[in-house]
Amino acid sequence: MQVIQTVAELRTALAGQTRTAFVPTMGNLHAGHASLVTLAKQHGTPVVASIFVNPLQFGADEDYARYPRSLDADCERLAAAGCDLVFAPAAADLYPVPQTTTVRVAESLASDLCGASRPGHFDGVATVVLKLFNLVQPQVAVFGKKDFQQWHVIRALVQQFNLPVNIVAGVTLRDADGLALSSRNGYLDAAERLRAPQLYQALAAGVDAIQAGERDYAQLTATTRRHLNMAGWRVDYIALRDADTLAEPGPASTRLVMLGAAWLGRTRLIDNIDFDLPACKS
Ligand code: PAF
Repeated sequence: MQVIQTVAELRTALAGQTRTAFVPTMGNLHAGHASLVTLAKQHGTPVVASIFVNPLQFGADEDYARYPRSLDADCERLAAAGCDLVFAPAAADLYPVPQTTTVRVAESLASDLCGASRPGHFDGVATVVLKLFNLVQPQVAVFGKKDFQQWHVIRALVQQFNLPVNIVAGVTLRDADGLALSSRNGYLDAAERLRAPQLYQALAAGVDAIQAGERDYAQLTATTRRHLNMAGWRVDYIALRDADTLAEPGPASTRLVMLGAAWLGRTRLIDNIDFDLPACKS
């Protein structure tokens, strides 16, 4: 596996490739990322992964400085998963001059859900992904559905900027107790780690209720929120949305997604479950 740090070397290494599959990451990788590489291998070759902690997508009071940088371990994991090339640029190489031109995601998407408490986050994500797509020029790119709203932002970016990239979604990997794998799980102390699956359990209980016929989504999300707050979480949002559009569910919705973001101590966790809405019995 090649590890490349400069834009010039990357362009040379990928010149002439026409079936590149790409997995963008911020490093601190876990088995969920390895599964995205495995999925990418089914869609193209070479498989390229990027490792770049993107300053543009972190707010001033967020964890950019303490976000773990673990390049050697990440490269070992990527090599074991069958990745062919790692692009790990320095911030100065990816953003060589002050970035005066950026992507602006529409308010309706950028200020919703995670965006409500992370202003500018999705603009930063869309900007770096557009840059990475221009550099790697992949035919396929794989994104985990754990970041469900990000996946929607990227799909809109590709569609609205006419990018010739096929976006493939990877399923969320979970620990045996249900906790979604996340680079931020490493921030949890032992006691928090024991309680962390409560977010998934709360979402799963909501989904079960809908599968059993509950249709008062406002009441359901309020109950889920209260339940988590009483369990000592600080809930950012609990929401039910149309999984295909991320809009509020309407009469035409056939797939829904229940999403949540909540703080456990100093760690903000997100999770979601998407599912088919059972047809109404007549
Ligand atoms: O999901 C991530 O790890 C990041 O948001 C991404 C897509 C690599 C952009 O920095």
